[in-house]
Amino acid sequence: MSRQRTWGGRFKEGPAALVQRYTESISFDRALYAQDIAGSKAHAAMLAKVGVLTAAEAAAIASGLDRVKEEIESGHFAWKVEYEDVHMNIESRLIELIGDTGKKLHTGRSRNDQVALDFRLFVSDRLAIWRSALRDLVASLTEQAEKNKELLLPGCTHLQPAQPVALAQHLLAYAWMFKRDHERMADADKRARICPLGAAALAGTTYPLDPAYTARELGMYGVFDNSMDAVSDRDFVAEALFCASLAMAHLSRLCEDIILWANPGFGFIRLPDAYSTGSSIMPQKKNPDVAELMRGKTGRVYGALVSILTLLKGLPMTYNRDLQEDKEPFLNADTTLTLSVEAMSGMIRELLFNGDRMREALARGFLNATELADYLAAKGIPFREAHHTTGSAVAMAEERGVSLEDLSLQELQGISPLIEEDVYTALNPATAVARRNTHGGTGPSPLAAQFTTLRQWLEHEQREPR
Ligand code: ARG
Repeated sequence: MSRQRTWGGRFKEGPAALVQRYTESISFDRALYAQDIAGSKAHAAMLAKVGVLTAAEAAAIASGLDRVKEEIESGHFAWKVEYEDVHMNIESRLIELIGDTGKKLHTGRSRNDQVALDFRLFVSDRLAIWRSALRDLVASLTEQAEKNKELLLPGCTHLQPAQPVALAQHLLAYAWMFKRDHERMADADKRARICPLGAAALAGTTYPLDPAYTARELGMYGVFDNSMDAVSDRDFVAEALFCASLAMAHLSRLCEDIILWANPGFGFIRLPDAYSTGSSIMPQKKNPDVAELMRGKTGRVYGALVSILTLLKGLPMTYNRDLQEDKEPFLNADTTLTLSVEAMSGMIRELLFNGDRMREALARGFLNATELADYLAAKGIPFREAHHTTGSAVAMAEERGVSLEDLSLQELQGISPLIEEDVYTALNPATAVARRNTHGGTGPSPLAAQFTTLRQWLEHEQREPR
């Protein structure tokens, strides 16, 4: 068969070789082959339902498309750059396989609504994969938090020691972020799974199509409202990439904590060998490369989001070829996010925590100063005054190079006569944590409530992922 382009009717010459290289998308949009075939099968079924095709024709198209899919999946499909993109490669092969009936598939359809459909299905499938990876990450954080429930460490603000917290509280802070990412993706999916097929090139078509039927066949949530919007809308790409960007931001923050904790100055964790590398010159080094790379790769995903937003900002109605540029940034962000989330889950599961180093760190930096102020306030001193008095206790301890709890009772009583022996219990980090039982706090009862909610959510998502 001659390699006639599907749009070649009015052209005397094919495109210049350079133009072919410049305009082709087959090198990357072949990733959408499964969605393209599913969309075409649904379209053919709909055409038969409304009487544009016979049932036999639709059946021939469906089985021809199944054969194309087999060829692709077994590596026997010959992708041809002359056919430009995934749509025309598959359609041309279908016509080769089943003859003239194959030429009827594109009735009432344009590549404009076809590519919009394919990409919506693709993005939706990736959102589901991202969500399941994120669910697993939430599970890994929850498991580690549960396993190390007794450990306390310095909680920081401004990266300065602030108050003692449970390690579980710190880890679950991330679990909540990733759960929100998961939910945000579920919400974005509602708008991604809207079927644009039936918009045709831009204005609708004269064939008596039934877009709701096509949408149901594909398990989509609904149908486009406006044909011009349907072929040029890529909001779903931007939304998915925003979801991905925010998830990368959360991963990158966690990476930063892991890198700090692995630094011998902190020494709160031992990096699993499988997730770190050595230095070619410094034998003592164990580098957190996975965490560093993840922090670095965050930029690519942000870049993809900015690419899409920039792509969209100057587009006149309706489909413009610029839109072909929506795929590569998305594909790159997809690979990056999926691998990053999976790598993070693996790394979290294998982290070893060093409770001794956390205890040592809790003894430095006056993390219990708030406890002394609260202790004095409980004795009836207005908090502002208690804060001031505690400040002088801190200054005294600092001058002597000791912690608050190393000051003798006489010394403390010199600062405030209201201080009694029980102050030492109040100054213990374990007491500080155990007493923070307000909603969402680091104390045992709000932590238990967090575990319960997260466990229920994890189970629910396992049972009903979509
Ligand atoms: N490869 C194109 C894209 O990704 C498919 C749609 C082309 N439509 C057209 N009218 N040239 O956007």
